[in-house]
Amino acid sequence: MRITAITIFPEYFAPMKLSLIGKAIESNLISFKTVDLREFTTDNHRTVDDTPYGGGAGMVMKPEPWGEAIDAELVGGGEVLDLIILTPSGARFNQSKARELAASKNLVFACGRYEGIDARVAEHYKQVAGARVHEISIGDYVLNGGEVAALVIIEAITRLIPGVIGNPESLLEESHNEIGEVEYPVYTKPTIWRGLEVPEVLTSGNHGEIARWRREEGLRRSESLRKSE
Ligand code: 6GU
Repeated sequence: MRITAITIFPEYFAPMKLSLIGKAIESNLISFKTVDLREFTTDNHRTVDDTPYGGGAGMVMKPEPWGEAIDAELVGGGEVLDLIILTPSGARFNQSKARELAASKNLVFACGRYEGIDARVAEHYKQVAGARVHEISIGDYVLNGGEVAALVIIEAITRLIPGVIGNPESLLEESHNEIGEVEYPVYTKPTIWRGLEVPEVLTSGNHGEIARWRREEGLRRSESLRKSE
């Protein structure tokens, strides 16, 4: 999988060299690069934004640098490019979207800032053969830009790629499955910590009872989470 992040702040992606993702890059399971959007501007000030048509507060990202930067990723790739446009007005990211994108060979993250990217950029690439456009939000709150959201999505996607996670069994016992059920609570030693005991069933050695208890606790948690939504 090739991953590219187009941004005016490449430094946001420094954490990509850490931990499991860093190792996956080192071992060539994935490749990662940043592209500085300002490299695709043509004026002396390297301008990426302008005032919104129709008026209003804030600035909008100009379409031309985005077009040039994304086109540069389209050529040479060969595979279909999944273009992910990060925007708070996109479709909410979830585990099933992570699974869909984990099958991609070529992911490009367009990290918008300010009030967003000129809407014609998404519109244009939806019409380009060889590109699939995904407008994605990571939740109902507003960030200063798409960079942190891109990191979240990259982590969720790359851990699904075979070989990225040391123990693939942990993918099966996932704390969030596709239908939004959460996992049971977990415990380790010591059996008593600050007066709080590990549930007895977990130390019983009865695997049938343990499995049943975990199922029930998971369901209980999912229900109470749903109520608080
Ligand atoms: Cl993808 N971008 C921004 N700017 N804010 C967000 C978001 C994305 N997802 C949630 N809030």
